[in-house]
Amino acid sequence: MKVLRTIAEVRFARAKLGKVALVATMGALHAGHVSLMQVAKKHAPHVAVSLFVNPTQFGPREDYSKYPRPIEEDLRKCEEAGVELVYNPSVEEMYRPGLADIAIDLPTLTGVLEGAKRPGHFKGVCQVVAKLFNILTPDVACFGQKDYQQLRIIAAMVEALDWPIQVVPCPTVREPDGLAMSSRNMYLSAEERGRALAISRALRLAKEQVKAGFRQTNRLLTTMQKTLLEQRLLVDYVAAVDPLTLKNIAEVSGPTLLAIAARVGSARLIDNTIVRPV
Ligand code: PAF
Repeated sequence: MKVLRTIAEVRFARAKLGKVALVATMGALHAGHVSLMQVAKKHAPHVAVSLFVNPTQFGPREDYSKYPRPIEEDLRKCEEAGVELVYNPSVEEMYRPGLADIAIDLPTLTGVLEGAKRPGHFKGVCQVVAKLFNILTPDVACFGQKDYQQLRIIAAMVEALDWPIQVVPCPTVREPDGLAMSSRNMYLSAEERGRALAISRALRLAKEQVKAGFRQTNRLLTTMQKTLLEQRLLVDYVAAVDPLTLKNIAEVSGPTLLAIAARVGSARLIDNTIVRPV
């Protein structure tokens, strides 16, 4: 496995490879990331992983400086997963002094949900993902459905800019008790982790209501909100939106994304599921 730190090294190594599938990450790898690598392997003979904690997607009061960076462990996990190329640049390599600030704006998709609560977050995500796509020129890029809005925005960006990249959505990986895997779960105490289970439970209960024939999203959102509040979670939002446009919808008459963002202790967690009318 090659571990490369500069754009020039990556371009040189990439040119020798055929079809490449990229898994872009900020490190602190867990089973969810490893499953992305496994999906990537099914789509291309060569798998590349980027490990880069991107400063431009963190707000001023967010966890950039304390975001975990267990690089040796991450490299071991990549190696075990059969990754061929790891790109682990410095901040200075990605954002060289004097480079112009650049934004790819998809306002209808970035202004809602996470984007409304974390101003500038998706500007940073689009910026770094566009740079990674240009540096690594992948044929395939795998992104997790846990960050559904990110996945949707990246797929829309690729489509709108005519990048010849297949964006592959990958299912959320959960702990046996339902908690969606996230690098931010490591901020949870045992007690907070127990309360955080309300997030996946809220989604499950709403899904059961849809299966029982309820279609009004107000009712589902009330159930979700109540389930979160019972465990004293601070709810950032509960939402029912169209999975393509991310616009609110009042009735489950087609695929509907139910999404949650909530705080448990110092951790801000997100999760979602897609429901369909019965
Ligand atoms: O999902 C993440 O880990 C990050 O947002 C990404 C896509 C690697 C961009 O920094």
